[in-house]
Amino acid sequence: MRTLLIVGNWKMNKTASEAATFVRELSQHLSVISTGIELVVAPPFTALESVRQVLGSRSPIQLGAQDMFWEDYGAYTGEVSAPMLKDLGCRYVILGHSERRTLFGEQSDSIRKKIQAALKHGLRPILCIGESLVQRDNGSTDDVLTQQLHESLSGFTGEVVTGVTVAYEPIWAIGTGKSATTEQAVAAHRTIRQVLAATASPAIADCTRILYGGSVTPQNIESLLASDQVDGALIGGACLQVESFATIAKVASAARPIGV
Ligand code: PGA
Repeated sequence: MRTLLIVGNWKMNKTASEAATFVRELSQHLSVISTGIELVVAPPFTALESVRQVLGSRSPIQLGAQDMFWEDYGAYTGEVSAPMLKDLGCRYVILGHSERRTLFGEQSDSIRKKIQAALKHGLRPILCIGESLVQRDNGSTDDVLTQQLHESLSGFTGEVVTGVTVAYEPIWAIGTGKSATTEQAVAAHRTIRQVLAATASPAIADCTRILYGGSVTPQNIESLLASDQVDGALIGGACLQVESFATIAKVASAARPIGV
């Protein structure tokens, strides 16, 4: 029983005041939907507090962060920690996004430490993995996904893996307007689930949510969610407009009967 999870990754967009206005409007749009799904917004760190204030404690919209460091505190200029995010009301944290990997040199070893720290502090990590176009074209997608999973989750017990959500995000689909087809996403999700079954356990693989991310739109979300292999979406561009994010949330909440 995997509840659909829809996450809006705002990346480096919206000031604190723009974010507050946005979330106020989004909440109005979503007041009519049933909450058979989990909905998360992940604003920049600087907007977490203003978004939290607008949402209050009873909103169906949850708060996520886009990254964090693995230490709790100390001399790490520019970083923020899991306790800081928890204190701001975050429930989720996106880790290992391909933009962090490719633009900021993030390696699997750091991602592994971040996952561990997030879980220790009761944050739910969303681990992003995905292949480049060259890797897809040369047929190594499955190997890349397997390696990224092994490296990011190495040494974890099954129990630890249970707390992780995986986001399959093919790099060639991110921000390009060229989403993976449902078939491509399903094939990748099956691979991911097999790796989880082998490294953790079949039961854990079965209850781990695997999201798809990469050019998700109000137009393609329904077909992506048509497969029971796809447990939600990580959305970039289309989450920055109230209408399109709200539409995606509505389609998702109608996509599967509650609890299926
Ligand atoms: P996109 O970004 O929806 O703009 O392709 C997705 C992501 O980077 O998580």
